[in-house]
Amino acid sequence: MPRNACLCDLIQALDQLASVRGLSPDCRVPLTSFTLFSLQLLQDGKIEKLEELVEKYPCAFPYWVGPFQAFFYIYDPDYAKTFLGRTDPKSKYLYKFLIPCLGNGLVNLEGSKWFQHRCLLTPGFNVNILKSYIKVMAHSVNTMLGKWEKICGTQDTVVEVFEHINLMTLDVLMKCAFSQETNCQISRSSFIDILSLLSLLATMIFMLKQRLNFLHHHDIIFKFSPQGHRLQELVKILHQYTEKVIQDRKKLLKDEKKHGNTQKRKDQDYLDIILSAQAENGNSFSDTDLRSEVNTFILAGHDTMAGSISWLLYHLALNPEHQERCRQEIRGILRDRSSITWDQLGEMSYTTMCIKESLRLAPPIPSISRELSKPITFPDGRSLPAGITVVLSIWGLHHNSAIWENPKKQLPFLQVSLSFPGVCRNCIGQHFAMVKLKVAIALILLHFKVSPDPTRPLVFLHQIVLKPKNGVHLHLKKLP
Ligand code: HEM
Repeated sequence: MPRNACLCDLIQALDQLASVRGLSPDCRVPLTSFTLFSLQLLQDGKIEKLEELVEKYPCAFPYWVGPFQAFFYIYDPDYAKTFLGRTDPKSKYLYKFLIPCLGNGLVNLEGSKWFQHRCLLTPGFNVNILKSYIKVMAHSVNTMLGKWEKICGTQDTVVEVFEHINLMTLDVLMKCAFSQETNCQISRSSFIDILSLLSLLATMIFMLKQRLNFLHHHDIIFKFSPQGHRLQELVKILHQYTEKVIQDRKKLLKDEKKHGNTQKRKDQDYLDIILSAQAENGNSFSDTDLRSEVNTFILAGHDTMAGSISWLLYHLALNPEHQERCRQEIRGILRDRSSITWDQLGEMSYTTMCIKESLRLAPPIPSISRELSKPITFPDGRSLPAGITVVLSIWGLHHNSAIWENPKKQLPFLQVSLSFPGVCRNCIGQHFAMVKLKVAIALILLHFKVSPDPTRPLVFLHQIVLKPKNGVHLHLKKLP
């Protein structure tokens, strides 16, 4: 990095810090202690450390993430409202680490290009498409339940369910997005392929987080580090995988056209939607854009779904009376137990409340960040200058004891969750996620009673996506 750029960074960082420290008497933290503390907070991902800070500083706190970079964490509802009402770009500092993996997809695009992609891809999540996914989702969940039946028989058995839900989620995603029958939940060979893809995704996310280590901030240093090498290898595998999916589909469509079969597929998948968007928009939506959006779909949809279903099951295990009430509701709606329809999902009001409460207790994406394009003034009159990266801690907001009487109290329902936040950049997959959560929980509760394993409580790791530190261990008992 040129020296004068370094100096500019330093001056800017000091300016920023000065204004941050002057921000609020009750947010003020001694520089030396918060510096060390904050690096730890990011690196070991322990939620309790974040909660300690939220408890101590009820609106916000600043921290260093590198020699020249200060972030500002907020978790007060009024601060969050002001923050979400603006159109600041995503933090370059954080999202640039995603570009080598995802390319430029919805998650990290900005401005008119983001708007163009968002308009083109939104039809991929419309009601008719989602309706057509229900059968696919139910089939994959039933496959997982079949495995659980084999493992448990009639005995009450402790199972690490996260691994199973992870595979089931990938199975659903591959089918809904690309109509890919991977059989990953049962078949040994594709199981291995997909497992390596899974570990690839997990490792990629982990490594991205490691890049927050300030020694890895600069591209050149990171590239030549062992982690950098590994990341490049993994990215290559991911890109080869998605490239093959795309090329296979393009070939299929070409063959269909050649044989005069130009009728639209009955159940269009996400790839069909992107390919027709590409056909309609020619040069403005390139093959690289296509691949980036395919990668984005896999990465944004997979860990969030595996986590949200697992946390929901865990919370219902901790709360047997609410679990039973959901089960009764689902039994009343599904009756013959063999299929689920869109309308039936709409009737699951109690179960939906439990889902929302579980998303509050454990938001799958625990924080989002933006780089201020102009100064921000919060409703209490305190301000931050342009250039600062502000992190909205969704976890902090959902667990802030200044807001909730008892933030850890589980179910019944506060029903206020900001797990899919954003006025301008909300989650494009949120309806997909709710449908999948309902289908999964309905089928699981019809067939199994779940209870916690007191010897192995769930420990969360606060990464880009919330993760279980040691899996999710639950007692499963097959219902008659
Ligand atoms: C419970 C599950 C999910 C949660 C809690 C969740 C949460 C979020 C959040 C918080 C954001 C905003 C990120 C930011 O502004 O920095 C986001 C964006 C996004 N999500 Fe989700 N998500 C979930 C499921 C999904 C699924 C299933 C998909 C796709 C299949 C998906 C695709 C995306 C995409 C593409 C974006 C970027 C949207 C844009 O900027 O236009 N998400 N999600």
